[in-house]
Order: sequence, then C-alpha cells, then structure tokens
Amino acid sequence: MDTKPIIAGNWKMHKSVEEGVSFVGKIKNRILDKVEAKVIFCPPFTSLFSIVKALNGTDFGVGAQNTHFDVQGAYTGEISIEMLKSTGVQYVILGHSERRHIFGETDIWINKKIHAALNAELVPIFCIGETLDDRKSNQTAQVLKNQLNLGLQGMESIDPLKMIIAYEPVWAIGTGETASLHQVAEAHGYIQSVLERMFGQVGYEVPILYGGSVNENNAAELIQTDCVSGFLIGGASIKEESFCNIVEQVSKFYKR
Ligand code: PGA
Repeated sequence: MDTKPIIAGNWKMHKSVEEGVSFVGKIKNRILDKVEAKVIFCPPFTSLFSIVKALNGTDFGVGAQNTHFDVQGAYTGEISIEMLKSTGVQYVILGHSERRHIFGETDIWINKKIHAALNAELVPIFCIGETLDDRKSNQTAQVLKNQLNLGLQGMESIDPLKMIIAYEPVWAIGTGETASLHQVAEAHGYIQSVLERMFGQVGYEVPILYGGSVNENNAAELIQTDCVSGFLIGGASIKEESFCNIVEQVSKFYKR
C-alpha cells in the first residue's frame, strides 16, 4: 500500500464516557509509536467531547456514528452537524446498515446527511452494502450502484477525496462471517468503477474501507486485497487486544 490505511472503530452503543476515555488512553500508550495507519475512533455521542480531548495532540481521529441533516430545530433526540463539530470530531459515519435496517433511514435522508457533513467540512464515512437476499439474487452490483447514486446525488462537483466509502455487506456485519477475498475485491473494484463514472479519474482514489466481521485473524489478508484502503470495524474495535493487534498488523503493509 502506498497510502496510509484507514482503520475506523465503530463502537456502536458501547462504553460509558469513563470506559471510553480509559480505552483510548490504553490504546494510545500501546500503539502510538507503531501506528502506520489513520486510526479513527467512533464512540457514542455522549463520549465524543471527552475522547477528542483525551486524544488532543495525537494523530488519532474521532468520528460520530450519525447526525441529523438540519442545523437546528424541533427534532427530539437528534444531534446536528454543528453540534458534532463543536465537540471537535472530524468524521461521521453515515448510512450504516443498522441505521438503514433498524431505524429505517432512507437513501434520501442519507444523501442530505452527506451534504450536511461535507458543507460543514466533516468527512463522511458513507456505508453501503447488500443484504444476503440481494447477493443470492445477483443484485449486489445493482444495490451498490443505487446506494452510491442516491447517496451522492447532487455531489458531482464535490472533491470526492473529502469522503470515505465503507463497503459493508449486511450479512457479514456482526455475524462472524466475512466476505471472501474474491467478493471483497470484486465489490471494491465495482464501487471504484462507479465512482470513476461519477467523478472521473480521481474517483479511483477515494478510500474504500471493508467492514463486516474484521478481526485479528483475517485483517492481514483483507488489507492486501485489491482496492481495500482499510477497515470499518465493529465488534473487534471495542476490545483492546484485538484492536491493537489489527492496527499493528495493518501498519506493516504501509510502505512510505
Ligand atoms: P462488525 O461490525 O465488525 O462487528 O461486523 C462492522 C460495522 O458494523 O461497522
């Protein structure tokens, strides 16, 4: 790899403020000198401010797991991009399959959220991926293309390098079942070709993360797979040993 791999940890609904701060402190002490990757922690909203503070002065990044697209308003329980920005985060995960499938987020909403993030100069980590039914019925490419087209509608003139795509097959998230190297290479190559059609040559350079049961046993081979720029990790990102191990393994493949 000749660009630094990106490893984002999606903590989902795990860890209190105290647990989160203590966790990133331990990770920082263990791997700070050895990291040849862009590591991004995505804790729950409640911990963002404290974790940004705990990581101040390091290269570690911090991201939120969702946002609302409006600046402010009567949206009980929601958080705006400006509020996220005021905590000091640089990234935001958008369109995660749990948001789409459990909370019913539509492509239209996700599109508005990506617009809001880019306008506020936060980097969206835009998640796409097919369900098992989609894959079984040979709809994977079509689903990925639709999610990209709808999610990125109206963004033809943006600098696509200001975003990160995460390919996360829904059937591989939290299931212990990882997509095969062939499936990953095929999907990532396809996503690149769609991005190239949208943005021209620079589309090839948009980082594409793989997510779905990444762990310390499969990280090394996945990171060497064609068109894989890094990982979005759920379960293994909240365990100190596993996460450090993955970051250390992945760092070995980055050649300055
Ligand atoms: P997982 O989750 O690593 O636990 O499969 C990935 C994700 O949901 O981003």
